[in-house]
Parts: sequence; structure tokens; C-alpha cells
Amino acid sequence: MIYPEHVIEEIREQSDIVSIISEYTALNKKGSSYVGLCPFHNEKTPSFSVSEDKQLYYCFGCGAGGNVITFLMQKENMSFIEVIKYLAERENIKLDETYLSQEEVENNKKRGLLLDILKESARYFHYSLRAPENEEALKYLLDRGLTMETIKHFGLGYANHQFNDLYEYLKQKGYSDELLLESGLFLQGKQNNRMIYDRFAGRIIYPIFDLSKKVIAFGGRVLDGSLPKYLNSPENMLFNKSRQLYGMHIAKNSGAPYFILVEGYMDVIAMHQAGFSQTVASLGTAFTPGHAKLLKRHTKEVVILYDSDGAGQKAALRAIPILRSEGLKVKVLLLQEGKDPDEYLKTHGYEAMKALLEGAPSDIWFQIHTIEKQYDLSVPEEKVKFLQQSAGVLAEKSSSIEQAIYLKEISKAYEIDEEAFKAEMNRYYQQGKSQRVARSMAETTTRQKKQVFNNEVIFLANLYHYPNLGRHVQAYLRPEFFDEGLLYDLAKAILESLKSNQEIDMTYFTTHYPEAVEQNIISHVLIHKDQRYEDVALLQKMMTENVRRLNKQYIEKRLKETQDVQEVQNLLFQKKELDKLNIDYING
Ligand code: GTP
Ligand code: MN
Repeated sequence: MIYPEHVIEEIREQSDIVSIISEYTALNKKGSSYVGLCPFHNEKTPSFSVSEDKQLYYCFGCGAGGNVITFLMQKENMSFIEVIKYLAERENIKLDETYLSQEEVENNKKRGLLLDILKESARYFHYSLRAPENEEALKYLLDRGLTMETIKHFGLGYANHQFNDLYEYLKQKGYSDELLLESGLFLQGKQNNRMIYDRFAGRIIYPIFDLSKKVIAFGGRVLDGSLPKYLNSPENMLFNKSRQLYGMHIAKNSGAPYFILVEGYMDVIAMHQAGFSQTVASLGTAFTPGHAKLLKRHTKEVVILYDSDGAGQKAALRAIPILRSEGLKVKVLLLQEGKDPDEYLKTHGYEAMKALLEGAPSDIWFQIHTIEKQYDLSVPEEKVKFLQQSAGVLAEKSSSIEQAIYLKEISKAYEIDEEAFKAEMNRYYQQGKSQRVARSMAETTTRQKKQVFNNEVIFLANLYHYPNLGRHVQAYLRPEFFDEGLLYDLAKAILESLKSNQEIDMTYFTTHYPEAVEQNIISHVLIHKDQRYEDVALLQKMMTENVRRLNKQYIEKRLKETQDVQEVQNLLFQKKELDKLNIDYING
């Protein structure tokens, strides 16, 4: 979808970047900008700065930067369009449907209708659960220890045995077969009559909510031991399993210092009922990076609480690196008695569970214990193998502080020589490193390209932030020296502003370069003043070298391209002059 520029610009202008970012980190006014702790990386001293006039932010620590739109795209994992809609709503700006393509209008309409169908169905299921003829279903849930309050809180329901009850109900409300099939609630027979029937008939229903508490899918459980035990809605335009966590719509407001990740619907519900409202589960699918991203938006620490059986243990080992790669702190708790959290809570209660959660071992200790179980440590050869494998686990961890801590703890716990253990870890580390080197060789060319690009970004930033020097070198520069597109436009704008002494027109840059990477470059150039270049001699050297390099590059490129004799002569002359070029800005 493309909104007209003026609409995007109006939204961006009316959205105050300072107040929006303040919701994520405390900002203090300092000179012409606001500073605070960077919301994109962990730090103790503020290196994050927000410019109110430019409506841009930049972190001197990690290089994150952009405008209010890219900020929300990154912090909230939203798409450009989602941010525009979110901001428009926030600022009460009406987005006209006429901006949308025909297809988008239709998709929006369909999405709305699907949400209506799911809402109506959830109500219908919930109502059925309380109907006298279905008392068996309600009894099942109550027997499992759920209170009426919990049943309402999670909107649990029951789908009648009658195979087309819900279908008839929705049909009579006027929904088309096509839409009903797309909702995921129904299946269609393969026989001639192509009969449509309820997918979940005879099952307990667990509605799945998105973050704004709209029903987007269902899970259904049998009441007896028949198989399959659970059915889930298939994926459609509303439901993407690998980005959805059951219970998240409540957990996100729990304000808890850590989140709890369990395996199933019933575990989430039992945990919430017991008082752990920060519990979520991935639904009938393995844990994905999408799930980890979603968690990262709401917490810094996750305790994995899976079944103690082999499958649970394996699943935990798989989830650890996924959570870690999002920068989350991870602990793992496998319940020994009572297979899953639901059962454990029934026999031991809240306090016991809380004590276990708070004493849960870190992911590293969990992995060490898992390895330990495979060996008999009283046999020397086996102990060596245990040591080697444990060293491998440590070598994979990126932080050297962590490595140092665990080297000590593990050596002590297993009475092994710390130096020997460290040597073993380093051996693994070196192995890993040579693999990394091989990989990075393949990336060398892209990196070199990036390096040139970085040079040019820094050069433009200096040109802008040190206007005295900028005015001195501008005669030797042309926008054509830079890559077409963003850098060209930035160079042009900076050179013009050096001439005219007028500020750069930010509107142009936000509307023409809305992508997050582009906004990052823009804020890098216009906000990031590199402190290194406060050293005037260094600054001068950097600028002279770059002016020469950029000039040369351009001349050579033109020499290859042009057919014009006159231009060739001029270029050759320019090239000669260039060797004499010496910009001495200090001595004039
Ligand atoms: P109860 O058996 O009612 O206690 O449910 P549970 O949530 O404890 O189920 P379990 O631990 O057996 O499974 C964990 C999760 O895996 C479930 O909540 C489902 O999301 C999913 N799951 C289990 N069995 C099936 C199945 O047969 N099909 C599908 N699609 N998912 C399943
Ligand atoms: Mn269970």
C-alpha cells in the first residue's frame, strides 16, 4: 500500500518523537537534544540522543538511528504500514481508504469479516459450554481444577457434537461458504455433496487471542483419550503460528520480571490461575525465532518450563539458542515430580512452584547437567568426555565474562583443574573461530563494499558537522561523486546548505527514504558528530584524503563512460590538478 507523501509527512510531523521514545527510555534535555539510555542495547551511561528539530534519534554506542517511524518499526516489530496506521490512530489523523489499492481494500474487508466470524464463534462456543446438554464438557474443565472465573478469563468453550451446528448458525447470519471455509473453523467433505462440517465438533475450545485481544484462531481438545488430542486452526491471513504465543495477550501486561515458557494450553491456563500471569506457550509447533522476538518485546528474561520427559528436554535444548540470539537471559526448569506444570501445581501449589522458578538453573548449567547425565563421572575416561563436551558448551557462549564465571563454577563443582578446562574451552573456541574465518572470507567483498559506504557516510557527517571545514572543501566536491540515491541526495543537500547557510529540508528525506536502513544512514550523517574528529589535524587529514579519493573515483568512472573528447581532456587536466591538491584548512 502506498499512502501519499503528504499524509505520511503529516503523520510523522504530528507524532512527537521525544514523547514517543520517552515511553521506552527516560530522556533528559541536554542542549538542543535529548539524551538517555539506549533502548536498543544495554548500557549504563547514556549515549542515545534524540533531536527534536530534526525528529531523528541516534545512538553513539550501537549506531541505531532513524526517525519515529523506524523507531517503532524496530522496537515494536511493526511494518512501515502498521506504524503509519498506529501513529495515525494515536494522533487522530484519518487515513482515507481511497489511498488503498483495490486489493488492499478487499483484504481489509475480508480480515474484518474473518475476525467477526471468529468472534461470533468464540461466543457461541462459550455459550455452548454452559448449556445444560453439554454439562459433560464443563464438568471436564471443572474436574481438571479450573474455576469458572478462569474459564471466562480465557474464554474457553465447547463445540457441539452436532457436526454442523456452528455452520448453520453462521450461515444464518449471512456469511458465505467461501469465507467460512477460510476461517479455519470448517472442513469440506470430498464426496459429491461437498458437505461443510465443523472442524472442532465435540472438542473443548481454547480461543487464541492476538495482542489486542481479538480471537484469531482456536485450539480444540478431545474430552476422552481419542486422537488427535488437539486440533488447531490452520494458518490464514489472521493466524501465523510461528509468531503467536498462547497467553501473550495477558502476559504482556503482567509486569513480571521474567516470563515463563510452557508447552501447552492447559499449562498456561493452570499457571495463570495459580498466579503466574506471565506464562505463555508456543502452540503445537516448535519454538521459533519469531516467538523469541515477540518475547523480547516484553521481557529480558525467560524461564523455560517444559515437561521433564525426553521430548521436553530436547525441546528446551532447541529453544535455548533461539532465545539467546535475541539477547534474552534464559533459565531452564524441568519438573522432576509431576510431569507438567499443571499437575505439579495441583499437588504442590504456588509457593513451591515459585521457589523452583526462582532457583531455576541458568541455561548453561542446564546444558552441563544434561551432559553430565550421559556419563559416569567416576570413570576417568568418561569424566574427560564430560569435560570436553562441557568445554564445548562454554566455547559457544559469546560473552567472555560469562565464560570466566562458569569456568570457575564448573571446575569447582566437578573438581577439575580450571586451567586444563580453560585450555579445552579455548581449543573449541579456536575451532569455532576458524570456521568463522572461513565464513567471513566469503563475505569479504560485501564487507569491502560496505567499508567504502561507511567511509562515505562518515565523510558526509563530517562535512555537515564541521561547516567551517565544509565550506573550505566544497569547491572540490560534487554530488555526483556519491552513489545515486540517498548518498547523492544527502551530499547535494549538505553542499547546498553550506552555500546557503540554511538548514536541510528533513521532509524530503523522511518521505523519499522511509526504509529503516535509509533512516539510519540519515540520522548517522545528520546527528552523529564523531568525537574523534574534534582533533582538527585528524579531521583535515581525513577530509583531504577523502576529497582526493572521491574525485579520483569519479574521474576514472567518467573516463570509462564518456565519448566526449572535450570532457576527456578536462578530466585528464582535473586529474593532474588533483595530485597538487592540498587542503590546508588550519593555515588557510
Ligand atoms: P492436557 O493433556 O489437556 O493437559 O494438555 P497439555 O496442554 O498439557 O498437552 P500436552 O502437554 O500433551 O501437549 C502440549 C501442547 O502440544 C498442547 O497444548 C498442544 O498445543 C500441542 N499438542 C499436543 N497434542 C497435539 C496433537 O495431537 N495435535 C496438535 N496439533 N497439537 C498437539
Ligand atoms: Mn497437561
